Amino acid sequence: MRAVVLVGGEGTRLRPLTSTVPKPVVRLVDRPFLAYMLEWLARHGIEDVVLACGFLPTRLREALGDGHRHGVRLHYIVEPEPRGTGGAIRFADEALDGGLGERFLALNGDVLTDLDLRAQIDAHEAAGARATLGLVPVDDPTAYGLVRLAHGGAVRGFLEKPEPHEIDTNLISAGAYVLERDVLDLIAPGRGVSIEREVWPLLVGDGLHGVAHESAYWLDIGTPERYLRGSQDILAGAVRSAVRERLDSHGLAHGAGCSIEGRLRGPAVLGDGCHIAAGAVVGPGAVLGDRVVVEPGATIEQAVVLDGAHVGRGARVSGAIVAPGARVGPDCLVTGAAVVGPDATLGAGNVLDRGMRLFAGVELPDGAVAF
Ligand code: GDD
Ligand code: MG
Repeated sequence: MRAVVLVGGEGTRLRPLTSTVPKPVVRLVDRPFLAYMLEWLARHGIEDVVLACGFLPTRLREALGDGHRHGVRLHYIVEPEPRGTGGAIRFADEALDGGLGERFLALNGDVLTDLDLRAQIDAHEAAGARATLGLVPVDDPTAYGLVRLAHGGAVRGFLEKPEPHEIDTNLISAGAYVLERDVLDLIAPGRGVSIEREVWPLLVGDGLHGVAHESAYWLDIGTPERYLRGSQDILAGAVRSAVRERLDSHGLAHGAGCSIEGRLRGPAVLGDGCHIAAGAVVGPGAVLGDRVVVEPGATIEQAVVLDGAHVGRGARVSGAIVAPGARVGPDCLVTGAAVVGPDATLGAGNVLDRGMRLFAGVELPDGAVAF
């Protein structure tokens, strides 16, 4: 069975992490975000994966190549212009001359999950469904597609981005579908089509089913807060992934050529060529990319500091993100899901908090921001 993965969105809510690289290849712990999805598919025996791209996938190709490192064969399909979630699936099938086959998987490409695809495929088959949605419970369904399920698993209502007063269940669509080929006929050709708004409503009562994955891990990584949470959950092993297998008995893993004079506290993952000076503390819950420099007395905890970033003497990065090439000056505090953008520079003694996002290349003088 083939899978088509939708990776054409712009990822605007993750800016500035996505101002220089597209969301699917933003590094999550030690590999491109999409690698988790490819490895999850490979674990389910899905080896042919079609990436439906709304834009030129140059960076995607550079990061993922032919997919063999992650156990799959990748096919890249590029829409003439973004066709929407349904339009992208139809376009990919046409571009491959019907290559998605009689039954296939379609997946939103911005989700970190380990849900049991095999169970969903089996339920789809047992029900004789035309489309089967994977469902997960969430606290607040407003940002998702709400799914009302009848006994026996038929969907009796689908509401994309429901209003608060419409919410009568916590089950939402996880963005993982098993589809029969005839569903493609419900997608108008040659234009943008939202599968959530234009296709699911047509299938309610006519072959749309849902399977609740009550205990699976599932996270849409679309915001800095959720990107941080996903990083922590991978380190903690809350989601099944290959990263956890790399950690030693202290919960630590680091790449080649690191010089570590300060303290590492697990769980923590460091890339290649990092320098942790004496008196610095990295972890718990720290992710460092390649060539990160942490100066004496600095602390990094529950935080992500990406390739080539520099954290100055006595600075503290806690529950926040420092993008590639950024410099955090001495005695700064970066916390509260703040993001220091790529190649941005924070002068000494700044405080970034409450989700503040410093955009790419911005330079803040010493002591410019406080809370
Ligand atoms: N190729 C292509 N072309 N991909 C697209 C396009 C397009 O025009 N538009 C969106 N995508 C991709 C996005 O990159 C993302 O991976 C996926 O389709 C879903 O789009 P989002 O924009 O992230 O939608 P959402 O998160 O608001 O809602 C969707 O996901 C929820 C679960 O996270 C819906 O499917 C909801 O029903 C669902 O609950
Ligand atoms: Mg999304």
